Amino acid sequence: MPQNTSVIIDKHRCTGCGLCARICHEHCITLVDGQATINYEPCSTCSQCVAICPQRALSWRHVPPLPYDRERLPSADQLDELFKERRTMRSFSEEKIDRALLEEIISYGAYAPTNNYNLRVIAVDDETTLEALERIILQFMRRVYSLFFRSRIIFKLIRILTPAMDPKDKVKMEETLARGDSFHLPAAMVLIVGDSRIALSLVSAQYALYNMILYAQTQGIGTRLKGTGQIFLDRSRAARRHLGLQKHEHILGMLELGYPAVQFANKVEGKALGLRWVP
Ligand SMILES: Cc1cc2nc3c(=O)[nH]c(=O)nc-3n(C[C@H](O)[C@H](O)[C@H](O)COP(=O)(O)O)c2cc1C
Repeated sequence: MPQNTSVIIDKHRCTGCGLCARICHEHCITLVDGQATINYEPCSTCSQCVAICPQRALSWRHVPPLPYDRERLPSADQLDELFKERRTMRSFSEEKIDRALLEEIISYGAYAPTNNYNLRVIAVDDETTLEALERIILQFMRRVYSLFFRSRIIFKLIRILTPAMDPKDKVKMEETLARGDSFHLPAAMVLIVGDSRIALSLVSAQYALYNMILYAQTQGIGTRLKGTGQIFLDRSRAARRHLGLQKHEHILGMLELGYPAVQFANKVEGKALGLRWVP
């Protein structure tokens, strides 16, 4: 029985062309008497059938799809400009971001291939909570520092056990702790959370985050991924309580957003990914 989260077929629009049956990788659509019919059991709800139907006979959650307007797609040059304009924001202005705009940015996460991993988003734009979370990150960092970094002997041991660790991390941590805050507070924070037992949820969350980053940029909103902050918040009991995280829920991505306090002038070549052709 179709639920309201499933694909619905409008029998009056279906011409029986079979495109939906051909694209369905779960093979759950068949033509019966010249009409598409779905077996909902194996349906992975990927919605490719809805996207392919030229008659728009299929709908997702009862919302008929809109056709693409390919004239409006950005050109390669425009995309090139967007990619190269993006920089991690280290300083944000004090201006708040309208919640409607934040929700719009977050909604673009749904256009990344994240379908089945049941990701959730936690958004924070309240200054007191943002400050509290920042304080928790610093407290956690202080604890990590005194446990593993302060003692020269333990630090040496840690470096032997984790040879990939950048020794600069110690200096950076010392500077952050001495300053008492990492960077300017953002206007908002978006956390993608998911079930850590689902192997691909982390990868999936990254796609959603990157969609949000690029869409935010088109709206003049700067972003900053928060690596250590994410790790510390996820492990801090106080933060988990603050954010209402369930036992198996983990922070898979953490993005800070705000209006940029600075404007960059130049495109700088990124560090190339090490390419290796095989064979
Ligand atoms: C997983 C990940 C975590 C990051 N964490 C932080 C962070 O905690 N603070 C920060 O300022 N930038 C963080 N960054 C941003 C990088 O430092 C930044 O991408 C790098 O300095 C290059 O700058 P760009 O983003 O402007 O190209 C992170 C980036 C990644 C990929």
